[in-house]
Amino acid sequence: MKRPNLSDSTESVSLSRREMILASGVMIVGMMPVRGQAAEGPGPSGKDLIFRTTEPRNAEPRLSDLIRSWITPTKYFYVRSHAPNPEIDPGRFRLHVDGMVHKSLELSLDDLRRYPQRTITATLTCAGNRRAEFNQQAPVGGVQWQAGAIGNATWTGVALADVLQDAGVDDAARHVWMEGLDAVPHDGGTIPFGASVPIEKVRVLGDDVGALLVTHMNGHPLPVDHGYPLRAIVPGYIGARSVKWLGRITLSDRPSTNHYVATAYKIVTDTAALDWSESGPIYRYPINAAIAIPEPDAVLPPGKVEVAGYALPTGRADARIRRVWVSADGGKSWTAAELSGDDLPYCWKLWRAEVQVTPDTTELIVRASDSSGGFMPARVPWNAKGYLQNAWYRLPVRIEGADLDRKRGR
Ligand code: MTE
Repeated sequence: MKRPNLSDSTESVSLSRREMILASGVMIVGMMPVRGQAAEGPGPSGKDLIFRTTEPRNAEPRLSDLIRSWITPTKYFYVRSHAPNPEIDPGRFRLHVDGMVHKSLELSLDDLRRYPQRTITATLTCAGNRRAEFNQQAPVGGVQWQAGAIGNATWTGVALADVLQDAGVDDAARHVWMEGLDAVPHDGGTIPFGASVPIEKVRVLGDDVGALLVTHMNGHPLPVDHGYPLRAIVPGYIGARSVKWLGRITLSDRPSTNHYVATAYKIVTDTAALDWSESGPIYRYPINAAIAIPEPDAVLPPGKVEVAGYALPTGRADARIRRVWVSADGGKSWTAAELSGDDLPYCWKLWRAEVQVTPDTTELIVRASDSSGGFMPARVPWNAKGYLQNAWYRLPVRIEGADLDRKRGR
């Protein structure tokens, strides 16, 4: 059977460079652009987060910490886990690649190090980010995330396409399944956390590596919280598709049957079996933005106020944040924010603006638009699992003297 080429010409260049390096015998040096090696042990966690649950670990940063820098330090990077962290012996670890491939693979961490190492910067965000806001419409279950289930990091590892190239993908394969080594309680037993992505997503297209098998985060071996020793990063897709503690990749002609693809991570208003079946898995995340400064319910003096936050473009390779607007008068007038941070695909921008608040101001609002036509709607319909909240972000504030003014009948 013919093997579809998952790599473009850039990729063929890297592969032949790898072959050249192999031939020259200097591969080991050339392959280690980052500090430490995956087999060394997990990177430091040292979390400075607000824990929503501790077992499993689900935590998000204070928003003022989140926007201190364009790259999110690991200690401020949210953690979203469905099960306790698994303990994995890096020496015995193997990544299995099977299903619709010509040759099944079992790769150790050393084997993975022999592929070209690539570093990308990408924003990871949970589909449940801003879930708590849905409760204003009707209650939603699940981790009650504010706007901190998002972070922007550098990720180093190997292109999934490079590994698949060695396995040889069957022509009829359409989806790449991924399975974690964790054990999530489910229906009285346990299941691994799983995901799948359409096969087109894992192609290398120019600078776009598609999906990366990651061993290092922000230049250090992955901390256990983030999937040590190996995780997937699928830029542009909801965090649930970036499987941590990755143990198996299976090629198939259909999406994964794992609970987190077949049932969870879908937009439904009713949780009846029919609703789940009628709704497809969420892949790409939509544009989003939030205000990180000031704090919710801050008491502000009337006059000019500094507002700051983040804005994430739609998860498409061609999408960049174009405009961020802030309003202090309920959306009657808007001030354009100043953007900062690199203009890279799949990455957020930080922003700040100065707006005039008056005794009538009760909230600050932010909305954003991007170059792919993405914009934040004023409202989004409620859904049962509280996913993809990307309506205008509204931050309640109080203005000094406002109550007094109101009492006086202003
Ligand atoms: N992978 C496994 N094996 N188990 C999990 O619970 N959670 C997913 C994803 N990968 C998860 C997983 C979800 S929902 C998100 S949002 C991201 O991991 C969070 O990644 P982080 O904890 O590194 O921020």
